[in-house]
Amino acid sequence: MTGRCAACGAAPEVFLDFGRMPLANGFLAAGEFDAERFFDLRVACCPSCRLIQLAEPPAPQLMFNDAYPFFSSTSRRMGEHFEELALALMRECGVRDPFIVELGSNDGILLQHCARRGVRHLGVEPSANVAAAGAARGVRSIRRFFDGDAAGEILASCGHADAIVAANVMCHIADIHSALAGVAALLRPGGLFVFEDPYWGDILERTAYDQVYDEHAFYFTVGAVRSLVERHGMELVDACPQQVHGGSMRYTVAHAGRRTVRASVGAWIGRERASGLDRPPALASFRARVEASRGDLVALLRRFRDDGRRVVGYGATSKSTTVINYCGITPDLVECITDTTPAKHGKYSPGAHIPIRPHADFAALRADAAVLFAWNHRDEILEKERAFRDRGGKWILFVPSVRVLE
Ligand code: TYD
Repeated sequence: MTGRCAACGAAPEVFLDFGRMPLANGFLAAGEFDAERFFDLRVACCPSCRLIQLAEPPAPQLMFNDAYPFFSSTSRRMGEHFEELALALMRECGVRDPFIVELGSNDGILLQHCARRGVRHLGVEPSANVAAAGAARGVRSIRRFFDGDAAGEILASCGHADAIVAANVMCHIADIHSALAGVAALLRPGGLFVFEDPYWGDILERTAYDQVYDEHAFYFTVGAVRSLVERHGMELVDACPQQVHGGSMRYTVAHAGRRTVRASVGAWIGRERASGLDRPPALASFRARVEASRGDLVALLRRFRDDGRRVVGYGATSKSTTVINYCGITPDLVECITDTTPAKHGKYSPGAHIPIRPHADFAALRADAAVLFAWNHRDEILEKERAFRDRGGKWILFVPSVRVLE
């Protein structure tokens, strides 16, 4: 381990090593294979502050650039989730003419609801291509990474934010202190900072090791978040679990002493202490389950191949890059992956170079089985693809355990 804990500077201890990995969203054209970049994907826990983090997160510019292929608005369920969050924020700001800032506003899935209602807002989004999709929805944004400097510029040009929101973004920001200092400065006294990210407790419980990839620098617990925000004069006032993204936690933060701290915070921290979710025995047992899951998935896919059955993948997710490369899944096991994102069509998956095809091809492929890489959208997808099962197609799942959905 070369790095230092991003929160406290101690030396984190690696508990899970996935080996060399390509960039999770590094989908490639046929001529780009030779230039593919790899890095070490290792997960560590700080023995001092217990923050779970990547040992060596790659430079942000490598991952979040003008060809970022992840568009938030691919799921109907996520659309509903963010509409609900936008409405709650507008309501809870508690001022007549609120100003709402979103960090990582992507294609405007959340802020479009502010834009439609004429509510003052600003997205901070480093990737021009996804931000352009947001602009088409009426969302105003600036092109940059959020840090202390960005906060200062927004403060100077727009004034304090009544609410700051970040969904699946804070866990991506390796320089977490700069981002939190920026939030503390930009937020109006009495304002709210609401963010949600995949929850370590859910990752552990579901053996959802595919949540580990280059963009996720942190795997938060409620206890770790409370300590982090306290270093910036803020306080965690609520922690509320969410079903989305395979199990997330929504954290509500305010300047210290400005809002009532809900009982949920103490309750979650008590539960975390009792379960020891960030302690060596739980981390070692997670590693053992991850290794067993790999063995089970590879064995199952080989059985399908040896029986001459056709297997495809469903959803060229960022998460799938970890599963595919860690398990050594090659195109002879999963012939192609279908996906709804036009920017991924005709490209190849990072590392294993499995072809990505449009979702429109899914039915015509008449696969015997499909690996549900987008398992976090399972209910929505199973409902949408009822015809696949009706004609005998099998779903292969690997979270929380490897199995065929009969
Ligand atoms: P998500 O789990 O949000 O991705 P990530 O692991 O990258 O955070 O899934 C998004 C990907 O899944 C995106 O490439 C679109 C694809 N997808 C489908 O192909 N069909 C679907 O029905 C859904 C919901 C997503």
